[in-house]
Amino acid sequence: MYTMSILLILTWVYLFNFWTRTTVATVSPKDCLQNSTLIDLVDCLNDFTVGPSYYNASSYAAAQPNAEQLDAWTTTITSMLDFNNVDCSTVSLPKSLSFIYTLTPFLDHSSQTPYCVLSETNSFPDHNYLKGWGLFVVPALQSQITRSIHLSAPHPLADIDTPQQAAAIFSLSGARSLLVSGRIRSAFDEATDCVKPVNPNTTYFKTDPAHDVNEPFNVAARAIRSWQNTHGGCPTDNCAYIQIHGKAASTCLNDTAFISSGLGASPLSSMNWYQTHPQAPALRIKDSFHQVFSGYTNFKNFTAAIPPTDPTCSLTATENVFGRLVNGVEEMDVCTTAADASDSADGGKEDGGVTGDFVHIEQAIQARQSDVYELWGEVMRRSFDEVEA
Ligand SMILES: *[C@@H]1O[C@H](CO)[C@@H](O)[C@H](O)[C@H]1NC(C)=O
Ligand SMILES: *[C@@H]1O[C@H](CO)[C@@H](O)[C@H](O)[C@H]1NC(C)=O
Ligand SMILES: *[C@@H]1O[C@H](CO)[C@@H](O)[C@H](O)[C@H]1NC(C)=O
Ligand SMILES: *[C@@H]1O[C@H](CO)[C@@H](O)[C@H](O)[C@H]1NC(C)=O
Ligand SMILES: *[C@@H]1O[C@H](CO)[C@@H](O)[C@H](O)[C@H]1NC(C)=O
Repeated sequence: MYTMSILLILTWVYLFNFWTRTTVATVSPKDCLQNSTLIDLVDCLNDFTVGPSYYNASSYAAAQPNAEQLDAWTTTITSMLDFNNVDCSTVSLPKSLSFIYTLTPFLDHSSQTPYCVLSETNSFPDHNYLKGWGLFVVPALQSQITRSIHLSAPHPLADIDTPQQAAAIFSLSGARSLLVSGRIRSAFDEATDCVKPVNPNTTYFKTDPAHDVNEPFNVAARAIRSWQNTHGGCPTDNCAYIQIHGKAASTCLNDTAFISSGLGASPLSSMNWYQTHPQAPALRIKDSFHQVFSGYTNFKNFTAAIPPTDPTCSLTATENVFGRLVNGVEEMDVCTTAADASDSADGGKEDGGVTGDFVHIEQAIQARQSDVYELWGEVMRRSFDEVEA
């Protein structure tokens, strides 16, 4: 009798498993962790990005981290940057995150590279993340890191295919970290209290991490920068914070990629800064892009520009809050103050505290496709020196 019921239970469990696996496709984001490559994982999780106009004031408030969770989020992101262990076991999730997020060892089977992945575990039945704070990935071993660069994709779904592309560049360039937002920028389509756009026809939403400091993506970006600052800073030759964006074909139509450092209110001082800093990361990336892409018949027509080579393009990221922070604006002022590259800014500090370590890449759809991932990897490898192991 006893054996009988065990058998019955086992059969039932088997049938139930079979049923869930065959009749319900992706039931939750944690199933994505079964994927065999990092790009597939990012692609799979992308489907759980909180969608347009999803929130109202109360559901947005409920989805935001509380003070304890914010602290846990910051601590976890920070400690992950020190990982040097293939089973990712040296960091355990604080209690306030452990029911929402998982920290998982992930082997990319195509490159045989181990990563540690911080990802949200659950979604609503309509396939929107419960929270949407974002995804964070680091190499499991310090020896995998050859460039101190940090890749991010703040605008999933809106800038189509950028999370997958950022993941590809991250792994192909031996970068230090990958950060992807878990919400489309219009998930809560109410205007942010942070950046008020110069262009009156634009609205920046509360869930747009490029323009709102409270988005968990931004909290993570600040934690990454603080970690880097306490680990030798961000030397221009081997370090940068690179945001991957996508633009409409009709915007800045002559540029396949428009690369900038997120500079200044004054066109004069900004243009001057680019001209006097030919070794800045954004300029090196532009030059490498030309070298690499022009070597392929199929991609010879891919063009890259920076503000001085296309002054008509307005996608200069001067209102990007993280860009402002990296370029010397005080954290408490990033909503209202643009970086200022003139020497008189910031009490006469040279270049107004602008570091150029922020890189903002706007791209036509062709530059975001998988057929150019390898080329982008080569662009980044050429643009940044290898870090000492
Ligand atoms: C990734 O995992 C999900 C969930 O298990 C699955 O539905 C999807 O087909 C996988 N993607 C690939 C490319 O294998
Ligand atoms: C806000 O959205 C939630 C979840 O969709 C819903 O249950 C709630 O009724 C909405 N509240 C208001 C005030 O519309
Ligand atoms: C805002 O939109 C109006 C109406 O479409 C247009 O005339 C104006 O040039 C736009 N302003 C800017 C700064 O783009
Ligand atoms: C794009 O390039 C064409 C051909 O060189 C030029 O005539 C046009 O003015 C450029 N457009 C912009 C917006 O720069
Ligand atoms: C380059 O030319 C090819 C063939 O005409 C076209 O399909 C592709 O979209 C072009 N790429 C860019 C970035 O303009």
